[in-house]
Amino acid sequence: MKTAVYPGSFDPATNGHIDVIERALRLFDKVIVAVGDNPGKKPTFTIEERMGMLKESTKHLNNVGIDSFSGLLLDFVKGKDSKIIIRGLRAVSDFEFEFQRALLNRVADGDIDTVFIMTKEHYVYLNSSIVKEMAMFGGKVSGLVPEIVEKRLKEKFSKT
Ligand code: PNS
Repeated sequence: MKTAVYPGSFDPATNGHIDVIERALRLFDKVIVAVGDNPGKKPTFTIEERMGMLKESTKHLNNVGIDSFSGLLLDFVKGKDSKIIIRGLRAVSDFEFEFQRALLNRVADGDIDTVFIMTKEHYVYLNSSIVKEMAMFGGKVSGLVPEIVEKRLKEKFSKT
């Protein structure tokens, strides 16, 4: 049973993230999507809200677990009996940041590897921030995010 952990902020999940989960499931028996806080970002949705949206958006898939973590990613991965971290790669601009983190994690624990999965071409330009910006100013985000995320974005930004 090969389990991989797909960590991220998922604030909120986009169709690019869901595509990476679907692709990872072709390579691994189980994928645990782990919602964590990136200390460099101020989240829009709470961890619980992000997990709820991910649960709803992956209900068509088997062998996906939605979890959260705080502290070091490595400790979470090891606690799940896994040695694999999944990260999505969109463009070369992602590479340097991801390369540094993957190597740092491997220096900290030589058993851990990071597997990069390229998102579907259609979603290469997508990230959570750009989707939030669109939604905040009343732009259309259908087709960019799962339906539940579209709904929650509307609710969130109609209040502010
Ligand atoms: O979607 P993001 O914002 O790129 O996700 C970043 C996340 C949450 C995966 C990253 O910040 C993380 O791993 N945080 C846990 C703290 C940690 O282990 N830091 C050292 C990594 S080298």
